[in-house]
Amino acid sequence: MHLGVNIDHIATLRQARKTTYPDPVAAVGLCLAGGADGITAHLREDRRHIVDDDMHRLAEMPGLHLNMEMAASNEMVAICCKLKPLAACLVPEKREELTTEGGLDVAAHQARLASVVACLTEAGSRVSMFIDPDAAQVKASHAIGAPVIELHTGHYANLSGTAQREELARIVAAAKLAADLGLIVHAGHGLTLENTPAIVAIREIEGLNIGHAIVADAVFKGLECAVRDFKDVMRR
Ligand code: PXP
Repeated sequence: MHLGVNIDHIATLRQARKTTYPDPVAAVGLCLAGGADGITAHLREDRRHIVDDDMHRLAEMPGLHLNMEMAASNEMVAICCKLKPLAACLVPEKREELTTEGGLDVAAHQARLASVVACLTEAGSRVSMFIDPDAAQVKASHAIGAPVIELHTGHYANLSGTAQREELARIVAAAKLAADLGLIVHAGHGLTLENTPAIVAIREIEGLNIGHAIVADAVFKGLECAVRDFKDVMRR
């Protein structure tokens, strides 16, 4: 199973100070050393974390499996066609949201999204549609020629008990339908060490994109060492 590590929140930390560190691109080597199969980064319209220069530098890294998350806007389509990442994931984007909320409504915007998929495919990117685990959205993604879907696991992650089990069943059904239609199935959003195993157990899912929990875990796994380095400098 492919793991795409989303490095947006390394950039979020940098942008909080509008400085040069931490550099999300410098984190790529560590992610790959840890076993990541690829890197995912979302260039948002407001550039709140990843900025154009990050995306350019990522696109130039030889052999990197880069997945560019993007809105289906003219601006992002032009950037993606220029950078030609191996993969492009179309997501809905609202300026006021904290993170991607809900999947793309492919069924309601088939004509526009079909032309974006054709354009990005022609430029050389494998396009995926970030959708809710809903049969109509899976069928619409297939109908417009997208080779990949990414099932939104954010609702599953936020639920518990019976409601979570029901949402998991929806993800299983959507994954099976997509695989039957010949689509490649990915999943992501809100995944943690605790809620990931049930998603990994879904045979049809071939890849996960995980960001927030990895960056959050990294803070705690690295904090002691970072403090020690400063104490060493102070002692010297
Ligand atoms: N997949 C998509 C399409 C996303 O928009 C995001 C968040 O940027 C992720 C996966 C990763 O979600 P998280 O940061 O919650 O792991």
